[in-house]
Amino acid sequence: MQLDKTIAAVVTGGASGLGAATARALAAKGVKVGLIDLNDQLGPKVAAEIGGTYAKADVTSETSVAAALATLRAAHGQERILANCAGIALAQRTARRVKETGAIVPHDIAAFRKVIEVNLIGTFIMIASSATGMMSLDPLAPDGERGVIICTASVAAEDGQIGQVAYAASKGGVASMTLPVARDLSRDGIRVVSILPGLFLTPMFDTVTPEARKSLEAAVPFPPRLGHPSEYAQLAVQICENVMLNGATLRLDGAIRLAPR
Ligand SMILES: NC(=O)c1ccc[n+]([C@@H]2O[C@H](COP(=O)([O-])OP(=O)(O)OC[C@H]3O[C@@H](n4cnc5c(N)ncnc54)[C@H](O)[C@@H]3O)[C@@H](O)[C@H]2O)c1
Repeated sequence: MQLDKTIAAVVTGGASGLGAATARALAAKGVKVGLIDLNDQLGPKVAAEIGGTYAKADVTSETSVAAALATLRAAHGQERILANCAGIALAQRTARRVKETGAIVPHDIAAFRKVIEVNLIGTFIMIASSATGMMSLDPLAPDGERGVIICTASVAAEDGQIGQVAYAASKGGVASMTLPVARDLSRDGIRVVSILPGLFLTPMFDTVTPEARKSLEAAVPFPPRLGHPSEYAQLAVQICENVMLNGATLRLDGAIRLAPR
């Protein structure tokens, strides 16, 4: 897909981190960018900075997503690009001993459900809602392409660590639905690709101490550092531009393989 001002995109999680970087990179190519996020402080700020539009929505709610997509489509037209970057993390073991009391307790099931709801079902709600709109568009020359969908899984989909059971399950779901969704939408010329990021420097790392950050960086074979959100965005742009990328799950991780802890 040639990226220019005739193309509209929707980026979820666009207020922060990888989503904001993707929104900036697409806007730099001239694309009209709509942001979906829950963050009413940062969302409008990023939108103003890139000449885009912000619509608040919770990706877990079909009605909330439908209203946001209607707002963004009224501003920019039907999107040909959807980048799913909204997500949440959680650290909790399958069962654990509570330090203070010695009690043995299971994983908080509501918390497990919430992570699946946002990362997996939220991504799928966005995919289904966006693909429905994309299918009404005329195909683009010369390939007959109608649209492209990018999802954000994680290397935890393949090597989830201790305490990452809910997160890894949600991201594994995103990774493994990539091919069947690409197959479902292939006859309409809509591609689907998932990125599995390693460690990227986003607000997710705000609470990490300098020492912990150093040891995380040392675990990355090359380059031995955290990834820049712009490097994620660079791949997102490449996925849009390279029509042969479809149905793939791409690790973007400096060759890190997460250790058990
Ligand atoms: N940063 C990393 O190292 C890393 C590694 C692997 C995967 N990821 C994934 O990349 C994605 C982006 O993460 P990030 O590091 O940019 O984090 P981030 O916290 O900076 O951004 C996530 C954004 O998603 C939004 N969001 C959360 N729940 C939402 C909901 N229900 N509806 C709408 N918006 C919602 C948040 O408000 C936030 O703006 C996430 O899916 C994350 O799991 C990040």
